[in-house]
Amino acid sequence: MARSKVTVVGAGNVGATTAHWIASRELADVVLVDVVEGLPQGKALDLLEASPVYKFDVKITGANSYEATADSDVVVITAGVPRKKDPVTGKFPSRDELVKTNQKIVGDVTRQVVKYSPNSILIIVSNPLDAMCHVALQESGFPSNRVIGQAGALDTARYKTFIAQELGVSVKDVHGIVLGGHGDTMVPLPRHTSVAGIPVRELMAEDKLQAIIQRTRNGGGEIVSLIGVSAWYAPAAGSAEMVEAIIRDQKRVIPSAVLLKGEYGYNDLYIGVPAVLGATGVEKVIEMDLNDEEKGMLGISAKAVQDVVGILGY
Ligand code: LAC
Repeated sequence: MARSKVTVVGAGNVGATTAHWIASRELADVVLVDVVEGLPQGKALDLLEASPVYKFDVKITGANSYEATADSDVVVITAGVPRKKDPVTGKFPSRDELVKTNQKIVGDVTRQVVKYSPNSILIIVSNPLDAMCHVALQESGFPSNRVIGQAGALDTARYKTFIAQELGVSVKDVHGIVLGGHGDTMVPLPRHTSVAGIPVRELMAEDKLQAIIQRTRNGGGEIVSLIGVSAWYAPAAGSAEMVEAIIRDQKRVIPSAVLLKGEYGYNDLYIGVPAVLGATGVEKVIEMDLNDEEKGMLGISAKAVQDVVGILGY
């Protein structure tokens, strides 16, 4: 059987690290694309030269144009301007301030990708995430099961990390989920969080749990304020997890930004919900039985997403 092919657009920190996870796990041949001359070629070559050490046997190619991406099965779009400190004001832009700049970049990229890989599944990683999913959907003309946003995979990973740290247990035994937009209003769900099946509230005091929820919401900002640019290891791991679910038709349940069509009471809006990911992309949205408080928080998050989507002008 021919190996699958995955294109990663954007050879910056997130894109290159996504290529790294995908290649090292032998999920697919990888094409890394970036507008900067030499950058994707150099990073692809460097990664390829690591393959005899860790013995991963895939093709890794770098390119500045899209011919090399032809017939990709999955395309991960990380292109865009990241959150970075303004050298003059010393301030960080919010995710939402990036919307106009990244709308243009993600729109251009999507048109190129679709031209060469009309049957691909798109995973969007660029921020502001939920809005950029709308851009990719609009520009690709793809059905929405093939345009998916990576957010919940990352946000849930952060949430689980903090819980495991606080309790001194393995991350492997922590289960949980974060819904909503990829922003400060995201909705971690403590009622659906457990350690090896034990409800987290039996193990942790409420004030500690609430602090973890708040830290999860600020998870992106915490890394930005430490390093000065956006995170990459965890965002890339979340992206590769989604790629694997699709390439290997795993039917994994991964919280993802999905275009809702009435589920949870929302229409034509991308928002993070539990999705079954398999060979055809989003195969199912799981509708959870939320209580009034959870519905209220999801409503606030949906409103925040809707406000940014409004800026796109579609
Ligand atoms: C974060 C950015 C990438 O959450 O959105 O780290």
